[in-house]
Amino acid sequence: MARVLAIESSCDETAAAVVEDNVVRSSIVRSQIEVHAKFGGVVPELASRHHLGAVVPVVRRALADAGLERYDDLDALAVTEGPGLVGALLVGVQCARGLAIATGLPLVGVHHMEGHIFSAVLGDDRMPARELTPHIALLVSGGHTELVVVEGLGRYRILGATRDDAAGEAFDKAAKLLGLGYPGGPVVDRLAGEGDPNAIAFPRGMIDRDDFEFSFSGLKTALLVHLETHGQPDSRAALADVCASFQAAIVAVLVHKARKAVRATKLSALHVVGGVAANRGLRSAAEAAGAADGFTVVCPPLRYCGDNAAMIAAAAAARVSAGWPASTDLHTALAIDDARMRAPESP
Ligand code: KG4
Ligand code: ZN
Repeated sequence: MARVLAIESSCDETAAAVVEDNVVRSSIVRSQIEVHAKFGGVVPELASRHHLGAVVPVVRRALADAGLERYDDLDALAVTEGPGLVGALLVGVQCARGLAIATGLPLVGVHHMEGHIFSAVLGDDRMPARELTPHIALLVSGGHTELVVVEGLGRYRILGATRDDAAGEAFDKAAKLLGLGYPGGPVVDRLAGEGDPNAIAFPRGMIDRDDFEFSFSGLKTALLVHLETHGQPDSRAALADVCASFQAAIVAVLVHKARKAVRATKLSALHVVGGVAANRGLRSAAEAAGAADGFTVVCPPLRYCGDNAAMIAAAAAARVSAGWPASTDLHTALAIDDARMRAPESP
């Protein structure tokens, strides 16, 4: 068993958590949404400054909530090394390095998207943990949209990714165009639940291509053209129709390609992870596809979809348990299938 304390500060959440393997003992997430909302998006310099103020109290809370008195009770420390906003990452990384030096504990750098992969196997006092078994991961966040074959720990193969905007970014940009504030995903999701997904025929980018690539920038342009032609929706019902139609276009492409990936690889499970995995339309469409084609669909509970440190700690705990050496040689911009993600002895 590996007990790990992790810090996550790659974007606008300061988070710390303690896990024992895949079981969450504490998970603290301090969001900066209020700081950035008035600017319509994350302001990197403000994010770094707020991480600085929050990181030490958040780490202390995570330790206390896990019932731990001392750092000696841990086997390792972990931190998100990238990708993310570099100033924001630096706060978490330097705090973790300082703790590692002070305590003598090994420090494991974790790729943010590998963390999201582990969000689907977390357990806590409300649900059992899972083993990491081979599956297709649909990684959908504010910065990434990727279909990844997860063969095992550190063995990730990217099948395809977005050529332009990430799915979460598309939701955020749509919300901005509609004057719905930041972040856009949750509010578009809520309104979409009241609207007609067939009201407006938005384009399904790259859906007919025989690959696993995505493109969402044309969809954003289509929304802009729609608003220029028809004006802003003049009622809540009209707004809900726009949101439902926009969301349906994103969900259709994501689920179509994820389904194709499961079929092509003959795997039996699809995990939908990342902030956009909180989307109700996406969750239900993925589950319907799994039921129709006979594969398992795992969507983490909402508390582990958005950025958190429990997923980072679980990814690190798996590395510690597998005997991989800890390293303070951190990388802020690796792709998830980079050779440095793999076990030292693997080819
Ligand atoms: O994984 P995450 O918390 O941060 C990144 O690593 O980027 O993802 C944040 C993204 C934002 O773009 C946000 O709008 C989106 O996830 N998001 C949603 C929902 N909740 C959050 N998108 C669609 N529907 C939601 N319910
Ligand atoms: Zn994320």
